[in-house]
Amino acid sequence: MESARSLPILEIKNHNRRLYSELPQALVNSPVTAAAMLDSISLFELMGSKWMLAVPLSRWDEEIHEHCFDEVRHTKMVQDGAKKLRWSMTSEQILLENELNKIFYQTTEAYLSQLSRKIFKLTYLGNRNKQFSLSAYAILAFLIERRIMKIYPSLAKHGPNEEIRILAKQIIKDERKHLGFVDEKLQASLDQLQTDQKTIIDLEESLADTWMEKLTYAVANN
Ligand SMILES: [Fe+2]
Ligand SMILES: [Fe+2]
Repeated sequence: MESARSLPILEIKNHNRRLYSELPQALVNSPVTAAAMLDSISLFELMGSKWMLAVPLSRWDEEIHEHCFDEVRHTKMVQDGAKKLRWSMTSEQILLENELNKIFYQTTEAYLSQLSRKIFKLTYLGNRNKQFSLSAYAILAFLIERRIMKIYPSLAKHGPNEEIRILAKQIIKDERKHLGFVDEKLQASLDQLQTDQKTIIDLEESLADTWMEKLTYAVANN
């Protein structure tokens, strides 16, 4: 097993726009970084289902139901993947994973929280006197699915073992389906808010670039 202390030092750039099109390989290619990353990914999955549960029953449909069920299922799948990696680690690796896990988890929670606050505010202000939660769901789901499709392919290619690479490939199939689920609702929401995909993508990418920069900095300095 790769030594936890032999992680490559990553170059950190001091501007943070559009640095990352895919999750950097060093965040997923060792058991230590992959375990910490999987716990953070489970937050994406869990928060996704929480935002869907904010949609009132009167606006609920079969696609939202299936989407929510998949994200709850994914939460457990990735948490189990992290646990299995941890079960095979040395004591030194466990300690390092614990340090990275805390930074990854807090940084990911901050990114998701900032993103949801911005989108809930945008949809609330743009839908006065109307239900805004369906628009919030459509936009958040689109942005999160788009982001997650830059994360799982990296795990599928560079994950630390075959089990994790297969896990990522299984989840990718569901995530593609989810992007199809939100497509129609997304366009209706953007039209209602008089905005476009580029505007919301720019908003998410600026937050995600900062998020990934902090993760890579943590790996390089632990
Ligand atoms: Fe998912
Ligand atoms: Fe999804």
